Amino acid sequence: MAKEKLRIGMVGYGFMGRTHSNAFTQAPKFFELNREPELTAVCARNKDRAEEFAANWGYGSVETDWRALIERDDIDLIDIAAPNNMHHDIAIAAAEAGKMVMCEKPLGRTAAESAEMVEAVEKAGVPNMVWYNYRRIPAVTMAKKMIDEGKLGRIFHYRAKFLQDWTISTDLPQGGEGLWRLDVDVAGSGVTGDLLAHCIDTAMWLNGGIDSVSAMIETFVKEREHALTGEMAPVGIDDACAFLARFSNGSMATFESTRYARGHKAQYTLEINGEHGSLIWDLHDLQRLEYFDHSGDGETRGWRSIHITDGEHPYMGNWWVPGLSIGYAESFVHQAADFIQGLDGKAAAPTFADAHQTDLVTDAVLKSGKTAQWEPAGG
Ligand SMILES: NC(=O)c1ccc[n+]([C@@H]2O[C@H](COP(=O)([O-])OP(=O)(O)OC[C@H]3O[C@@H](n4cnc5c(N)ncnc54)[C@H](O)[C@@H]3O)[C@@H](O)[C@H]2O)c1
Repeated sequence: MAKEKLRIGMVGYGFMGRTHSNAFTQAPKFFELNREPELTAVCARNKDRAEEFAANWGYGSVETDWRALIERDDIDLIDIAAPNNMHHDIAIAAAEAGKMVMCEKPLGRTAAESAEMVEAVEKAGVPNMVWYNYRRIPAVTMAKKMIDEGKLGRIFHYRAKFLQDWTISTDLPQGGEGLWRLDVDVAGSGVTGDLLAHCIDTAMWLNGGIDSVSAMIETFVKEREHALTGEMAPVGIDDACAFLARFSNGSMATFESTRYARGHKAQYTLEINGEHGSLIWDLHDLQRLEYFDHSGDGETRGWRSIHITDGEHPYMGNWWVPGLSIGYAESFVHQAADFIQGLDGKAAAPTFADAHQTDLVTDAVLKSGKTAQWEPAGG
């Protein structure tokens, strides 16, 4: 019997437009789904490039105005893979039109924006999700399982960093296509909303809510030419951010992110230390989970490096044979599969409401960076 279709309208054909298109294409080939995703339409302002993208990925049609995409009655799900300043209006209009909504992170540029987005999807009662994909890298999902099973016991410390090095040149303009992340009006913030949002989402998923934060933020290059105007303009984003946090469970944390760590392209690492053990994960070696188990005899006790590629590891039974790796792209495949499976049962997280909690923390971090005070995070 033919499966019910899930007809997707994608907004944006950039980096995330590609990962999501790949995810919806692969998900039904590797996971048992009750609905068949269909790449129905892609929307972007440049018609020629949108058509090229549509032909490459197999989209049935193209729109150049997201409002027209939302008005179509042959679309069930609006997937927002456009810059941060677009998320709010598109998500709310999609929810009001009764569409399911998936949105890239950060959900809003501010928690005030994302609060309105949560209200809209909840009022409309439409399924919703935010693409915090790192939760679904099998080694990270495995860490969650081990923590929930109590293998680490009481948690004392959480440590995360996300390092890049691509904005060091003072000649790099801000704004426009490709460099919208440096324009505060479009991005909302710099590394805090872009990179630390990932670290905070994973941290709260693994270790619970964050009560308060104390941050140090810096903008190393104060002025850059704006790509759209050609004029020099002040830089409003944070180039680097380091903050301390207290979790509701009594544990303490350090988070750090920068785009000025020469040599690092996308180094996301996390470490968690508990009474009975510790875990370390590194995006550069994403299938490995380092685990220290304090039980057993002292002579042979030590760190073990678990290669998360066995059939019994999260998601891995659906891929190749034990020992063979998957990568970054597959975390999006898992997320698409979980979303679709969640439509017929318990909704898969992170929902808009979950992602709003992250925005509350990033707001508090940015505020603390200005006040130099501890700020309540409400996350
Ligand atoms: N989950 C992750 O790991 C991850 C990684 C990268 C980016 N992101 C997020 O994904 C979103 C997109 O980032 P990206 O790296 O794909 O950006 P990108 O610049 O590569 O692509 C953005 C796309 O949005 C389109 N767009 C811009 N304005 C539009 C409009 N008015 N109407 C329709 N389309 C429009 C652009 O044409 C482009 O196709 C951002 O919110 C970003 O924070 C998430």
